[in-house]
Amino acid sequence: MARQIITGTKETKEDRLMMSDSIRPRYLQDYIGQEKAKQNLKISMDAAKMRGDTLDHILFFGPPGLGKTTLAGIIANEMGSSLKVTSGPAIEKPGEIAAILNNLHEGDILFVDEIHRLNRQVEEVLYPAMEDFAIDIMIGKGQTARSIRLDLPRFTLVGATTRPGMLTAPLRDRFGVVEHLEYYSVPELQEIISRTAQKLKVDIDDKGAGELARRSRGTPRLANRLLKRVRDYALVRYDGKITVKVAAEALDLLDVDQFGLEKQDRDILETMILKFGGGPVGLETLASSIGEDSGTIEDVLEPYLLKTGFITRTPRGRMATPQAYEHLGYEIPGSA
Ligand code: ADE
Repeated sequence: MARQIITGTKETKEDRLMMSDSIRPRYLQDYIGQEKAKQNLKISMDAAKMRGDTLDHILFFGPPGLGKTTLAGIIANEMGSSLKVTSGPAIEKPGEIAAILNNLHEGDILFVDEIHRLNRQVEEVLYPAMEDFAIDIMIGKGQTARSIRLDLPRFTLVGATTRPGMLTAPLRDRFGVVEHLEYYSVPELQEIISRTAQKLKVDIDDKGAGELARRSRGTPRLANRLLKRVRDYALVRYDGKITVKVAAEALDLLDVDQFGLEKQDRDILETMILKFGGGPVGLETLASSIGEDSGTIEDVLEPYLLKTGFITRTPRGRMATPQAYEHLGYEIPGSA
């Protein structure tokens, strides 16, 4: 598969290295977890192949690190197409998206990460491109200005977003397939970690992989990153082999706790408990109290705290649950 990054994405250099083509699963059968999304994608891809047609546009949404980019790569592989990668914030002008679209070939997969961050003018170029495979280009200025329609090859747009609510309705409605990616279970993460370890020739036993899996907040990108850190620890302090003891020690040192919470997560819970009596507290108030961007809290930190039941959302704001009090060692209000 030719994977071509056209403009910047959020992945770090290390992510790309870790998730380089030898580590990333290349076909659906090697992809662990997300069973529903996999089944739906398989049906859409098989049907497109049977009809000899291009695949419908696909939208993936869910928290970061769950495999949206990986799935886009798999789709391109499975369809025998090439993948072009860009992201919402990287495209600033309508002319830029027009140029990207105009350079596509029949059947290409165009992956747009953080698609909710496209600006309105850029988005408007996408509407006819997605619906009719055409773009309207303005020629000339003022009185003599006119628009001409330029036909595009039939392509598939794969969009990814952590914030489906921020997508405009006209854009959202133009995706034929919409898939929600979920946090991974511990057994799924354990399998992913063992698979990556094998590829990287890292010696890890099942219990060591299990410990890493439990502390990776349901997120393969984090699991693979932590595996690298723990590998370093095992090499420097031990004989290189990752056992449950080595993994636990290394993760403690990295300040990743039993539930996979990091300092930032614990800061949120502690602030809610100590400064706001457990809540309810509004997102913006909480964000300024801990000096964090409210978008990061909402997209990255909060979803896992909600999933694990440390906080709840109410119409009046976020609340810390008894579990949060217990985990941080505070007395649960009203329990004395
Ligand atoms: N590496 C990262 N995510 C993966 C997944 N879902 N399956 C297999 N390997 C992975």
